[in-house]
Amino acid sequence: MLNTISSQRIFSGIQPSGKLTIANYLGALKPFVELQQSGAECIYCIVDLHAITVWQDPTELKHSTRLAAACFIASGIDVNKSILFNQSQVSAHAELAWIFNCVSRLGWLGRMTQFKEKAGSNRENSSVGLFVYPALMAADILAYHATHVPVGEDQKQHLELTRDIAIKFNNDFGVDFFPVIEPIIEGVATRIMSLRDGTKKMSKSDPSDLSRINLTDDKDTIVKKIRRAKTDSYPIPSHEAEISNRPEAKNLINLYAALSDTTRDSVMQQFGGKGFSEFKDQLAELAIECVSPVTHEVNRLMDDNTELDRILATGADKAAIIARPIVKKTYEIVGLLSQ
Ligand code: AMP
Ligand code: TRP
Repeated sequence: MLNTISSQRIFSGIQPSGKLTIANYLGALKPFVELQQSGAECIYCIVDLHAITVWQDPTELKHSTRLAAACFIASGIDVNKSILFNQSQVSAHAELAWIFNCVSRLGWLGRMTQFKEKAGSNRENSSVGLFVYPALMAADILAYHATHVPVGEDQKQHLELTRDIAIKFNNDFGVDFFPVIEPIIEGVATRIMSLRDGTKKMSKSDPSDLSRINLTDDKDTIVKKIRRAKTDSYPIPSHEAEISNRPEAKNLINLYAALSDTTRDSVMQQFGGKGFSEFKDQLAELAIECVSPVTHEVNRLMDDNTELDRILATGADKAAIIARPIVKKTYEIVGLLSQ
């Protein structure tokens, strides 16, 4: 896939709603860097408007936005090759989102599993922004006429909705304007699960810090979290058939495979039949090898807020140049008078 899309435009986003995790790294940042290296035109966005669909402390939000920018750069995003910015600095996102709120149907948004999960039993009290979250996400992508969107498995449904919105807009107005995007969901790291519960995805907003490895964790913390990671009392499985009802074992094997750039099969060949303790030590070593250089660079970058803010502002200017004519044309198609 990666080498066939060098002439396409990539867009993806990450919410600054906490510290980025090793799942964000393996499921998103690492593929983002590979796409950048493939020569594709890449636009990466820190989606602060999405983050505020649930409560964010204003001071922490600013910090998390800069921290996310530092994580992108420390992971290998080169701001001279890719565009990196925060969403709220480019008004095209909010403008196009309003148009898409009017194209999307209530029924479509009501079926989104992420909304159901995040709103939970407190639906009446959740923000309207949380409900229309996927329309803003469609706006993020389509404001650039992006063609390919690398994400983890959890975003698949939202990307299908983005396709539906583009198709409905084109049909309603009798145009062939918005592209029907292709998701890129590839590899063993598209769904890394919590270290405390193999049936829940690893998330930066999980109340338990032990459930995840943050890109800012030090070595001792990583070793502790992996040693404490939940497992069962059986030996490590040797075949795919033995893995299906062992979510925690499957998750640690996936994590190992992703960190060592190999397959689940080869990890099972190496460790099948053994106990978890030696495996966990080696897994911790791999995780440290992956996270340490990133943490080191993140800390260095976080010493200079002015420079990070400058990078994001420059990225926003570049992004706005692409999005502005697309929003203008959208307004014209819809019949909104504008200059
Ligand atoms: P978020 O942290 O929800 O803003 O997600 C940012 C990116 O990381 C998206 O592409 C997600 O699909 C991806 N991602 C988030 N959590 C995971 C996970 N547990 N495993 C793999 N990818 C993930
Ligand atoms: N909803 C995505 C997530 O939580 C983040 C996101 C917002 C995004 N806009 C996007 C991802 C556009 C890809 C493309 O992971």
